[in-house]
Amino acid sequence: MKITFLGHASLLIETADKKLIVDPFISANEKAKHIDLASLKADYVLLTHAHQDHILDAETLAKNNGAKIISNYEIVTHYGAKGLGGHPMNHGGKWDFDFGRLHYVNAIHSSSFPDGSYGGNPGGFILQSEGKNIYIAGDTALNYNMKIWGEQFDFDLVILPMGDNFTMGYEEAAVATQWLRCKKAMGVHFDTFGYIEIDHEAAIKCFKNKRIELLLLNIGEQISL
Ligand code: NI
Ligand code: MN
Repeated sequence: MKITFLGHASLLIETADKKLIVDPFISANEKAKHIDLASLKADYVLLTHAHQDHILDAETLAKNNGAKIISNYEIVTHYGAKGLGGHPMNHGGKWDFDFGRLHYVNAIHSSSFPDGSYGGNPGGFILQSEGKNIYIAGDTALNYNMKIWGEQFDFDLVILPMGDNFTMGYEEAAVATQWLRCKKAMGVHFDTFGYIEIDHEAAIKCFKNKRIELLLLNIGEQISL
């Protein structure tokens, strides 16, 4: 499985034959100008919640590729009204897709659409595919559910927000990684704008002190699992 960081909390996840894009916020990200939205391919678009910095390019990607939107019931219904296909989920539920098993889990955050309308409850995803288990937290605070998921799943990678202010910061993300019983974390939701700038060296050191590897990828950089 390959994971490419597309900036902010946006990811491209590639399994052997499917492409998943998570929380696309590319066209308005000054730091992701070198990512060409029009050339991105996707079979599915996964949305953790309805905030603008997570859904901005979802409609374009879904239309360009005929991709299915996977999110909570309210978000999928919102895009369904625009003629886009989707698969609705809610907290605690799982479904076997053609790319693997996906669980939609709760997050501590909010989830309104840019116009203020209701975007359901915010969430994250646990992806089980090709023998790997990955937690994609979405925007969230540190919370004790992570401890339960750490008992329930054997994680190969956890993808956590760590820019602070709107989500947990890197100190809390390091604790989250311990609670999730994982040895490798990837940071998202940092440096995009002023409120969420972080000191990379301090963050990496904070994780290293807990014997956890922290990946802070450059935008466009890819890792293999
Ligand atoms: Ni948010
Ligand atoms: Mn956000």
